[in-house]
Amino acid sequence: MIDDPIRWGILGTAGIAESSFLPALRQAGDGLAVSVASRDGERARSWAAEHDVARGVAGYEDVVADPEVEAIYVPLPNGLHAEWTIAALEAGKAVLCEKPLCVTPDETGRVLATADAASVPLWEAFVFPFHHQIERVRDALAGGRIGEVREIASRFHFVLDDPQDIRLSAELGGGSLYDVGCYPIRLARLLFDAEPDLDRAIADAVWTGSRVDTELWGALTFPGDRRLVFSCGFVAAYDTFSRVLGTEGEIRMTNPFHPEADDTFAIVRGEDVQEHAAAPAGEHSFTAAIRHIHGVLRGREQPRNLAVDEAMGNATAIEALLAAASRPTA
Ligand SMILES: NC(=O)c1ccc[n+]([C@@H]2O[C@H](COP(=O)([O-])OP(=O)(O)OC[C@H]3O[C@@H](n4cnc5c(N)ncnc54)[C@H](OP(=O)(O)O)[C@@H]3O)[C@@H](O)[C@H]2O)c1
Repeated sequence: MIDDPIRWGILGTAGIAESSFLPALRQAGDGLAVSVASRDGERARSWAAEHDVARGVAGYEDVVADPEVEAIYVPLPNGLHAEWTIAALEAGKAVLCEKPLCVTPDETGRVLATADAASVPLWEAFVFPFHHQIERVRDALAGGRIGEVREIASRFHFVLDDPQDIRLSAELGGGSLYDVGCYPIRLARLLFDAEPDLDRAIADAVWTGSRVDTELWGALTFPGDRRLVFSCGFVAAYDTFSRVLGTEGEIRMTNPFHPEADDTFAIVRGEDVQEHAAAPAGEHSFTAAIRHIHGVLRGREQPRNLAVDEAMGNATAIEALLAAASRPTA
């Protein structure tokens, strides 16, 4: 038996809740999913039974209002994140909202103001800043192992073959920059420990007739003319390979965002290549973040990577890149 587990509610029977959140919650070991809500009550009940969640209910508001629920996971389409994150925060729940937290800086500002007023923690579900790999990479950079970092080259691509996917709906906040391009941006802001000059954003994209970018590529310039050069999309085979390039060497990460057992990061100086495992064997990508959230909610840890500190920088960079790529108007 777990003493006083964190009781989670989930909004939506989402694919990511099944594939990533719930396995990591089980692995973290000190939390329980007590309720899942769906637009469809029957779907909620069968999903709950299948995934060992205590209750399945019709309507997201039931989970938000549930007094047993202490923390809420929001894996809804991007266009619904702001509305339901605000509702959960106003009900006094801690929130883990999927990335991107919102689709505009205005929405982001409203959500962050609500979190501030409610004095409850809110995280945007970038889980990689909690990974051991990123700590090791940051240590290597701080220790000057590759000299001064000049450039980060990063990509996040996969093949999206379902025409009904939420990622292809402009109304629901679809598009490859929102979906996966947000990762290289977060990586660069984290490793440069700075914000980009938005007036210098460069981007181009392939747009569908319904105003969704299926591929996007570009650059963000950071103080000191350091830069992120990146691409993202729904067309090319899965790849997240990223390089941190310095004056004396580079760090190569086969998967900075969701590393698996066979992923590595290598610190390279000339002929000297030191390769390390990127993730502990068997550890789910979300587990470190969920352990941290539980630690914060039980007073064992100080919060890190809170949305109030981190989310606006990504939102404004995304907006600048979409403008630079001439996003079609509605
Ligand atoms: N952090 C990560 O690694 C990661 C990975 C993948 C996805 N994500 C994020 O997680 C979120 C969900 O992605 P997903 O791939 O899990 O999507 P998904 O499987 O399509 O799930 C989205 C859920 O939202 C609910 N929903 C509410 N209104 C909807 C509408 N109009 N159309 C479709 N669904 C609607 C549905 O639940 P009900 O029908 O039960 O209400 C649906 O199951 C997105 O924000 C995405 O960016 C994050």
